Amino acid sequence: MAFRSLGAFLDELESAGDLLRVHGPVSRDLELTEIARRTIARDGPALLFENVVGAEMPVAMNVLGSTRRIARALGVEDLGATAVRIGELARLRPPAGIGAALRDLGGTLDLLKTVRSLGPTRVTSAPCQEASTDRVDLDRLPIARCWPSDGGRTITFPIVVTKDPETGEPHTGIYRLQQYGPDTLGFHAQLHRVGRSNLAKWAARGERMPVAVAIGADPATLLAGLAPVPEGVSNFVFASFLRSEPLALVRARTVDLEVPAESEIVLEGYVDPKEERVEGPFGDHTGYYSAPEPFPVLHVTHLTRRARPVYLHTVTGKPPTEDAVLGKAVERIFLPVVRLLLPEIVEMNLPVEGLFINVGIVAIQKRYPGQARKVMHALWGLGQMMFTRYLVVVDEDVDVHDLSEVLYRVGLQADPARDLEIVEGPVDQLSISNALPNLGGKIGIDATRKGPRDGFPRPWPEEIRADAATVARIDALARSEPGLARLWGRPPT
Ligand SMILES: Cc1cc2nc3c(=O)[nH]c(=O)nc-3n(C[C@H](O)[C@H](O)[C@H](O)COP(=O)(O)O)c2cc1C
Repeated sequence: MAFRSLGAFLDELESAGDLLRVHGPVSRDLELTEIARRTIARDGPALLFENVVGAEMPVAMNVLGSTRRIARALGVEDLGATAVRIGELARLRPPAGIGAALRDLGGTLDLLKTVRSLGPTRVTSAPCQEASTDRVDLDRLPIARCWPSDGGRTITFPIVVTKDPETGEPHTGIYRLQQYGPDTLGFHAQLHRVGRSNLAKWAARGERMPVAVAIGADPATLLAGLAPVPEGVSNFVFASFLRSEPLALVRARTVDLEVPAESEIVLEGYVDPKEERVEGPFGDHTGYYSAPEPFPVLHVTHLTRRARPVYLHTVTGKPPTEDAVLGKAVERIFLPVVRLLLPEIVEMNLPVEGLFINVGIVAIQKRYPGQARKVMHALWGLGQMMFTRYLVVVDEDVDVHDLSEVLYRVGLQADPARDLEIVEGPVDQLSISNALPNLGGKIGIDATRKGPRDGFPRPWPEEIRADAATVARIDALARSEPGLARLWGRPPT
């Protein structure tokens, strides 16, 4: 089921008992953060603050802060179902030759039909434009200060819409916007983001970049907005695909961009490529404050909104946080795309402890010498996987989600003199331990078993495992010995 708006999703959460209304007066400065932090730590519900001091509208938080809510937002029991659909979509490529074309025709045509029917629709009148003004006063929005040393109040969960001036292709990313004044915001699109490459293209033409910001879209559009969809694929098409229903777009009032019609609030304006201003500090995904740094400036020239909007907010920091839960969901649903490009990858884990970008563990089906290194380099060349600083490759029978098992394999099966691949390249802008910003080291650890083909001259020892006959005999014994059955659980018959 597709939720048409944030409000519709909040209604659904409330009837499912997964939303808590907070009635008491709460300050938007620091107090929203503390309440959300404690709630997420207990895997608690979405929060709707009805009385934020001085605010004209309620504030929603922790809306996608649990896997069950993300699954509900996508209308699935578990995210595996969405992963399968994305895998099918990604497999859609021109068939090689007439034979393959005929063979694939049925399934491919069905899926193509679905994808075509899922392009966004255009509407001329939209809830997000029920009210509008040119006299922008951002102080009337409940923009919050998240952490004590933040450089300012910050819009933390905006869908920022830009477009490529050459192709006209729209793009969305979640880039925080720190408030400078009544109509100016810091445009925190990091160096590697599509929002930044679009800005460079507008700069090359000597033009300002038009920008629209949707605050509080429907949950699937929000997810599509932060997902690392390949460059050239519109997040709006992907949003329609996730919703299994076309997303309604409306033309923004004063800039040549489209925005989700059911958004709560829309800011319209521009970024002048010649202008920068110091942004930060800001309590970031890393659990540290990101240092003040120059970033482009977003001038807001027009604001539209629903008659009674809800303001959507989130807080970053050391996990557990809402963005960490979202990061895990993105890892799960995009695994089939990674596997399409690297079919030898059986499983992948980007642990929350590694903030998704610092540490990656992949299990591979190894067929030839050097394959683990090939996988490392391929991943370092794949979208945002380029930021992975520690990449561990294990054999297919290792459970990548069992970190003690992974550590056991690394300690035992990797030889530091031979199995490390150390390279230098781009690292995430938020990364703190590299000497130069955006550039640093990465290490790949090949913890797969080695054999003569890998240049390993010694015989690889046999792993100790109980033999099947003994296991079966002891299972039978446990069935007739209540003490053992109690201790171990009743073995399957
Ligand atoms: C809550 C949240 C806040 C984020 N804030 C920022 C940000 O301030 N700057 C940024 O560049 N990316 C931020 N991101 C990450 C991007 O939205 C995400 O990587 C997305 O894929 C954008 O990449 P793209 O613009 O290259 O497509 C944030 C993500 C989340 C979930």
